[in-house]
Parts: sequence; C-alpha cells; structure tokens
Amino acid sequence: MRKWISVSARAALALSLASGLCVQLGFTADGGNQEKASKAAADSLFKRLGGKEAIVAVVDDFVARVGADKRINKFFAKTDLTKLKMHLVNQICEASGGPCKYTGRSMKETHKGMGVSGADFSALVEDLVATLDKFKVGEKEKNELLSVLGPMKSDIVEKP
Ligand code: HEM
Repeated sequence: MRKWISVSARAALALSLASGLCVQLGFTADGGNQEKASKAAADSLFKRLGGKEAIVAVVDDFVARVGADKRINKFFAKTDLTKLKMHLVNQICEASGGPCKYTGRSMKETHKGMGVSGADFSALVEDLVATLDKFKVGEKEKNELLSVLGPMKSDIVEKP
C-alpha cells in the first residue's frame, strides 16, 4: 500500500516532467507517450494520492498521531474516532476530486466553542505532514492537499 502511493506519486511527477520536456522541445515523434503524460498530469489529486484506499490509510495514521499528540489530544478526549475518521476520509476524498460525499457538519459549526488556537492548528497540520511524509506522498500532492485544507483555518481557529 505504502509503496503504491509512492510509486504512483513518483510516476505522476515523472510523467508530468517528461510531458513538459517534450512540449518544450517540440518533440512530437512519440505522440503516444506524450498523450499518456498529459493525461497523468491532468489526473485528479484523488487519483494521484492513490484513491480511497490510500486516503483511508493516511487518515488512520493521522488520527492515531493526533491521538498521541499531547499538544492537542485533549480536544479529542470524548470524540468517536471511528466516526471522525469516516468524516475525514469523505472530506478529503471529495475535496481532492474523488467520488465521495462529505456528510458531516460544516467546519465552523463543528469547531465552534472549542477554542482552537493557531498553535493547535499548526500542531495538527504538523501531524498530517508527518503522516504524508511517512507514506512518501510527493511534494506536489502534499502541497495541493494542504492548499485544500488551509482555507478552512479561519472557520476552525477561534483564538490566536
Ligand atoms: C484543516 C484542519 C481540520 C479539518 C479538515 C478538520 C475536520 C474535521 C471533521 C471533518 C470533523 C468531523 C465533523 C463532524 O463530526 O460532523 C472534525 C471534528 C473535530 N475536530 Fe477538526 N478539523 C481540522 C482541525 C482541527 C483542529 C486544529 C482541532 C483541534 C486541535 C480539531 C478538533 C476537532 C474535534 C475535537 C472534533 C470532534 C468533535 C466531536 O467530537 O463532535 N479539528 N474535524
């Protein structure tokens, strides 16, 4: 599984680099490969992350990491972690262009009154990055995922 994410992320990056190079050089003799390369570059983030199975593995590791993180685990003391994981998988799957539907509450409603600070938010992002690095998710995919989640910060953080 881990290998699969790494291999698909690397393949996507290699193909997109190859495609860019071909276009730059005006290299058209190998049209078939160029077509394949453009297709991989256009794949959704969901596909490049490795699909639903990969997202489930990432969320599992991430939630375990948050649960062990003394900086923020007190927030989750009474949380149903199985339900949280289901919501996170659907949220990430949908936000990355996958065939899922997030059915949880809005980010504002969910985190209202928790008193999450900027430092708490950064700690959680740090845990997510550690998970993505463990699974060898490519820089491009990692940054794309963080850019999808980043704008949610203003609905989650209530104090500096
Ligand atoms: C981009 C960052 C974050 C995302 C995408 C996110 C997403 C979610 C989602 C999808 C849920 C489940 C919603 C539902 O039950 O309907 C949830 C619940 C929760 N989140 Fe976040 N969250 C983020 C940041 C944080 C941070 C920084 C904290 C605190 C350090 C936090 C604490 C919680 C807690 C405690 C719950 C469980 C609430 C309950 O038990 O009802 N979240 N979050």
